[in-house]
Amino acid sequence: MDTINVDHRITVKDLTRMKARREPIVMCTAYDFHSARLVDEAGIDSILIGDSMGMTMMGYDSTVPVTLDDILFSTKIVSRTSHHAFVIADMPFMSFQVSYEEGMRNASRLVKEGGAQAVKLEGATDLTLKLTGGLSRAGIPVIAHLGLTPQSINTLGGYFSQGRAKEPALLLVQEAHKVEEAGASAVVLECIPTELAAHITASLSIPTIGIGAGIGCDGQVQVFHDLMGLGTFQPKHAKRYAHVEEIAADALGRFLSETKAGEFPGEEQSTHLASDVAQSIEELRK
Ligand code: KIV
Repeated sequence: MDTINVDHRITVKDLTRMKARREPIVMCTAYDFHSARLVDEAGIDSILIGDSMGMTMMGYDSTVPVTLDDILFSTKIVSRTSHHAFVIADMPFMSFQVSYEEGMRNASRLVKEGGAQAVKLEGATDLTLKLTGGLSRAGIPVIAHLGLTPQSINTLGGYFSQGRAKEPALLLVQEAHKVEEAGASAVVLECIPTELAAHITASLSIPTIGIGAGIGCDGQVQVFHDLMGLGTFQPKHAKRYAHVEEIAADALGRFLSETKAGEFPGEEQSTHLASDVAQSIEELRK
């Protein structure tokens, strides 16, 4: 398969080309220097500075408390660290829901100051659609996000799969077309049935990126900590490709017990004075 050269910084146009040639788009979240470095060096196509940082980095139980400054801080690090991946910054809760002007200003900060190549907006309200159009005309690609939209947790009432009944499924199809018509460059589909996501994918010209939306999407996005097995909660849609939680707990336990036992630091972690300096120090003690 003709894949993208990893020396090249992926652009929004590459995502569209990948859909056209049926090359799956691979996206992962990152929030700091090491996660961004690892994701980028692995050759993953796109990094999302997701507001999932509320849970993975900040210990909140939802994405609601995450602020624009939180996302901006991480976006600066991730965009400076990565050289290959297409960098998308999430617009956090209430950074684009108040007014068109505020949404435009906040998105522009993530691009101008943060170095993001695109922003992601949850939902398909009239204001979000207007903003999608305004941003894309202004030169900021927009990634839409439909299905389970975690910023609406307080109205959804829980992290449930969406679009399972006929009416909500049809509404999701309509919303997907609306975000495409408004100018979105791609759409994240979160926690919706496989068949519905496959239907939406086939009927849109922009790429769909699924999370808990089955195999029929143009790409897949996962949260870094879920892939790594870092954290105690594992969502149904996540696959643990590593067990970092156990490795880290084991390392910390051994540091604790070796230090308590007087075994750390050992010779390998220590330096010594030259014998003449050691002697002068010894003399000082007398
Ligand atoms: O914030 C996030 O990480 C996301 C992904 C789960 C799509 O929105």
